[in-house]
Order: sequence, then C-alpha cells, then structure tokens
Amino acid sequence: MKTDDLKKAAAEAAITYIEPKLKLDSIVGVGTGSTTDHFIDALGSIRHKFDATVSSSEASTSRLEGVGVRVIDLNTAPGIFVYVDGADEVEPSNAVIKGGGGALTREKIIAAASDEFVCIVDDTKCVDQLGSFPLPVEVVPMARSFVARSLVKLGGDPIYRNGFITDNGNLILDVQGLNIDDPDSLEKAINNIAGVVTNGIFATNRPDTLLVASAERVFIR
Ligand code: 5RP
Repeated sequence: MKTDDLKKAAAEAAITYIEPKLKLDSIVGVGTGSTTDHFIDALGSIRHKFDATVSSSEASTSRLEGVGVRVIDLNTAPGIFVYVDGADEVEPSNAVIKGGGGALTREKIIAAASDEFVCIVDDTKCVDQLGSFPLPVEVVPMARSFVARSLVKLGGDPIYRNGFITDNGNLILDVQGLNIDDPDSLEKAINNIAGVVTNGIFATNRPDTLLVASAERVFIR
C-alpha cells in the first residue's frame, strides 16, 4: 500500500470518528499537510453536519473553501469541538513532532484551544523516540543567529529553511541531532529562548487521540 493511501485511510477514519459527535453548531479545527488535505476533502462531504472550521494555514483555508466549508477566525469561535491534524513523528506516549509544512505555530494554538486533538498518521510516522525528523522551530527573523547559537548549546544542529516564510512572517530553523528523551522539558526549554515563536514538539498539548493507518487496518491509541 502506498503511503498516500495510508494517509487517506487515516483521514477517512477521522471522519468516521468525529461524524457521530458533531452538532450543527460545532466548530472543527483543521491542520495542515498532505494527510490533512485528505481530511479536508472528506470533510466537504459532511459540511452540512457542523457549523464552520478554524484553519491552521492559508493553504488549508483555501482548500477548505474549495470544498465549500466555511472558515472563521479563531477569535470569533466560541470554542473548538475537535482539532484534526497530521504529524511528522509520534512516540509511544503520543508526544509528536509537527511543522514539516511550517504551520506549527497556528497548529499549536488551535490544538491548545480545542476540546480534543485528534492526530492522523500513517504507521511510518511511529517511532520509539522523537528526533530523527529534524525539529522545526519558528523564529522571529532578527533573532535567527542568536536562536541558532542557543539551539547548538542544547545539542542541536539548526539548518535554516531557505526561502521559506511562515504565514506569520517568520522563518524556520530545522534542528537535527537533538536528544528528545524528555519531550515536555525540551519543548519548554526551546520555547524559552528569546526570539522563538514556538517549536514543533507537541507534548504539553499532545494529541488526545491518535489514529494510525497501517496496511492491515487503522488503529486508535
Ligand atoms: C504541517 C504539519 C504536518 O501535519 C506534518 O508535517 C505532516 O505532514 P504530512 O501529512 O504531509 O505528512 O505539521 O506543519
């Protein structure tokens, strides 16, 4: 089975998971990436079953509107019933790395603001310990060198994501070589560096529900 078929299976499992719980006034949070794109496409077919969405990126907003789903600003949302998004890596206690697509800050905000965070992945994303995937860190442009030096002190090797500007007007450093044996602590330590907007470890607000697609089945964790 191709990886994209697994992503689609995880996305469709998320629709099956949330659909019976939706109410006509529900607001659904929507992530970013190729797995989430499958979710958005399927969400269009049940758009009459909820009120609107809050989107984590310009790309997802455009795709949502393309399938006829209403997108509202987080500031006008009375609450977010559920947030559905992919991940780059997930470890056994469901801490994840996100931000491969560079939308990590808005993703983290919506995940924190939601009643439930449902993460959808194919089984190639499951690891014993986070860190093989370079950790994305969103940085205010003027702080790039200072933050890079600070990340080196934490044991990392930061690489500037050349030519990429986030939806918030910032840049991304992708950090290789970090020892992420304590995701909660490292998430906080990196976020404490002046100039860091946020980093791609989602441990404080880790997924409540993980749907993993393998060649045999989609399982929940
Ligand atoms: C974007 C993300 C994505 O969820 C993550 O990169 C996974 O992407 P994909 O579903 O394309 O494998 O965090 O910022």
